[in-house]
Amino acid sequence: MTKENNWVELCQLSEIPERGCRVVVTDEIKIAIFRTHTDDVYAIEDKCPHLGGALSEGIVHGAQVTCPLHNLVINLVNGEALGPEPMCVKSFDVKKEDGKVYLDLVPVKKEAA
Ligand code: FES
Repeated sequence: MTKENNWVELCQLSEIPERGCRVVVTDEIKIAIFRTHTDDVYAIEDKCPHLGGALSEGIVHGAQVTCPLHNLVINLVNGEALGPEPMCVKSFDVKKEDGKVYLDLVPVKKEAA
């Protein structure tokens, strides 16, 4: 089943630092929008699945971010942690259009395996 997107204009791509991020805070969740060195953008919950570290303060390398607290590596594409234990943060659809970044605040639902 495909998800219908409800895009919200967020900012200019240039307003997100390269290998950095911007944080969006709603009533329910903090979302970190990351920009990679190749100008790809990804959005995941700003809360490490290990002990809740702020992923927005982590180090971005490729399409991954390393948590600043205990170095867990999170795949920005799907929010899944790389490691022996299966852990995951919510991920969100994000897109670039005409130099602007758009975010869908409804998390991407994972299909059951
Ligand atoms: S809180 Fe992120 S690795 Fe521990």
